[in-house]
Amino acid sequence: MNNKIISESMDIKLDSLFNNLPEYPEFVKDIRRAPKREADLSKEDIKLALKNALRYIPEKWHEKLAPEFLKELKERGRIYGYRFRPQGNIKAKSIDKYDGKTLEGKALQLMIDNNLDFDVALYPYELTTYGETGQVCQNWMQYWIIKEYLKRMNKKQTLALYSGHPVGLFESHEEAPMVILTNGLMIGMFDDMKHFNKAAALGVANYGQMTAGGWMYIGPQGIVHGTYMTLLNAGRLKLGIPQEGDLSGKLFVSSGLGGMSGAQAKAVEIAKGVGIIAEVDYSRIETRHEQGWLNEIARSEEEAFEMASKHINKGEPVSIGYYGNIVDLLEYAVKNDKNIDLLSDQTSCHAVYDGGYCPQGLTFDERTEMLQNNKKKFKKHVDKSLKTHYKHVKKLVENGTYFFDYGNSFMKAVYDAGVTEIAKNEGNPDNGFIFPSYVEDIMGPQIFDYGYGPFRWVCLSGEKEDLLKTDRAAAECIDPDRRYQDRDNYIWIKEADENDLVVGSQARILYQDAEGRIEIALKFNEMVRNGDIGPVMLGRDHHDTGGTDSPFRETANIKDGSNIMADMSVNNFAGDAARGMTLCTLHNGGGVGISKVSNGGFGLVLDGSKRVDNIIKRALSWDVLNGVARRAWARNQNSIETIAKHNKNNENDDHITIPFIADDDLIDKTIEESR
Ligand SMILES: NC(=O)c1ccc[n+]([C@@H]2O[C@H](COP(=O)([O-])OP(=O)(O)OC[C@H]3O[C@@H](n4cnc5c(N)ncnc54)[C@H](O)[C@@H]3O)[C@@H](O)[C@H]2O)c1
Repeated sequence: MNNKIISESMDIKLDSLFNNLPEYPEFVKDIRRAPKREADLSKEDIKLALKNALRYIPEKWHEKLAPEFLKELKERGRIYGYRFRPQGNIKAKSIDKYDGKTLEGKALQLMIDNNLDFDVALYPYELTTYGETGQVCQNWMQYWIIKEYLKRMNKKQTLALYSGHPVGLFESHEEAPMVILTNGLMIGMFDDMKHFNKAAALGVANYGQMTAGGWMYIGPQGIVHGTYMTLLNAGRLKLGIPQEGDLSGKLFVSSGLGGMSGAQAKAVEIAKGVGIIAEVDYSRIETRHEQGWLNEIARSEEEAFEMASKHINKGEPVSIGYYGNIVDLLEYAVKNDKNIDLLSDQTSCHAVYDGGYCPQGLTFDERTEMLQNNKKKFKKHVDKSLKTHYKHVKKLVENGTYFFDYGNSFMKAVYDAGVTEIAKNEGNPDNGFIFPSYVEDIMGPQIFDYGYGPFRWVCLSGEKEDLLKTDRAAAECIDPDRRYQDRDNYIWIKEADENDLVVGSQARILYQDAEGRIEIALKFNEMVRNGDIGPVMLGRDHHDTGGTDSPFRETANIKDGSNIMADMSVNNFAGDAARGMTLCTLHNGGGVGISKVSNGGFGLVLDGSKRVDNIIKRALSWDVLNGVARRAWARNQNSIETIAKHNKNNENDDHITIPFIADDDLIDKTIEESR
């Protein structure tokens, strides 16, 4: 075989898409760029990385591109193939502006474009949507080939992707998923950051985070709702606020105004509290401020606390962005005896040594420079800063603050920095940490255990009017008097438009349980059928009841020992595929980092058909209830109640196994007597 024969054996290839090699793109000023990524490559590895990237490139362009790719690898740690990036901004268009044989193929192109929008993506040139390292795919060559496959696919085909690499279109059937993709799945003995970084630099692994590589990101709105509920419920649980109350007069302090963390400012305001959020990168403060998600900016610790206390005294909600390091802010609070009611952290600690956490004593630019030029020294700074950070958190907690880990691997990072006392069982983080994660105390028992999770949709017409219609329809499906969670969700959706949450596509998030998701989805599909609205992409974040096995986050309140297993997420993914979701995804990493979580998601295009009504009923029910079933089996009370009710209703002949509960005294007595 030679390259001529290979080229003649493919229709979908870059030189069919480009007559000539595209011009090297101009990088738009002020668009954030990813720092250099880590990879310890030998000479042989570098050769392999170049050969791997050139697999996408017709031979006639090899001579030109080989040195260009080598330069990217040396300067950026990865080969992104910048030359193939479209010039300027990429924006999701309305669905009818996309080419393709199927509605689904067009819808998925739209979702990809939204994930790469300058206004949405964290590092758009590096295909990174959010969470420091979460990419849509590995490089721009893949981007073009994926889009071409999506255009060409017919109803009876499935596109397979391995870590961003479009393997190809394979025959399936009309009820099968159109795309099945996995990201960063590694063989157990190699499943660590070091091997992942090498594999990513070689061009064989992609870090999909969750909805970045799962193509379902809807901007920071996606997390505002979850953060709003976490804060409200933390207040109810720890500050004595009544069920129907809000956070008026209470102070929440945290860090990060980035992709997801940016939601904290908006969420605290919606929950009617006062928030100070520390951020070291001024451009992110500006973005959130211009967007209206951050009300005020403070340039010193003193100013931040003064602004906060004014609003606390008046009982008015406000979000304050403090330009500086969270460790400095907490140091000031400890020294000056400032009261903080709720405390958290949302720096990207899942990538703590890769730029996710800016250590105390370095500015944001100094951090970027040191990361690039002296990684060893940078690592030392990070460890020192995390130790100090922990010391202040501990002191504040002793003074009455409620601290919770907000799913960014903060406590694991502190532990890895050498603070073993943060582990419940010193020397071993497997049994959890001394501070609760937000899932252990709040989201787990009160939200996920019932099956409530981050259901979301995108109006593919791009019309705001469609979004407003879906908001109203969803509100009509909720009974606010069923449970207090329903009341919170009802208020959320009623106020959603007023809160101006859309960034990028016309999308909405709404926490719902299995029943709610099915009812709302059927209603939307009927509206599409009747021509009231255009088609809708339905999906969810991976941060949900059933799609994610993550002992440090989503499954932190699983206490039967199965928190180290990944059976649920893999079964969830396979089950969604079997039931006909349009897009099925499964990732390693995501949220808390490589090897620490297995997570999956889905997308379902609502085309108004009866076929899709059936998929909604069977697939949404499975997608949620498999998670509730697993939680019930782990003896979580609210899940047992939910599953027992489901078994009694016995709607579609489902039957789920529920645990008998052994008496603790009996167990103790049995063991005692055997001694
Ligand atoms: N709990 C959840 O539901 C949830 C959801 C999404 C993301 N996360 C996790 O939260 C973290 C943040 O996600 P993101 O998408 O916002 O990432 P991001 O990288 O876009 O934002 C993090 C921000 O923190 C800032 N920062 C870093 N160190 C700082 C310091 N010492 N002081 C002040 N600011 C500092 C950075 O400049 C950046 O803007 C990730 O680890 C992610 O996995 C949790």
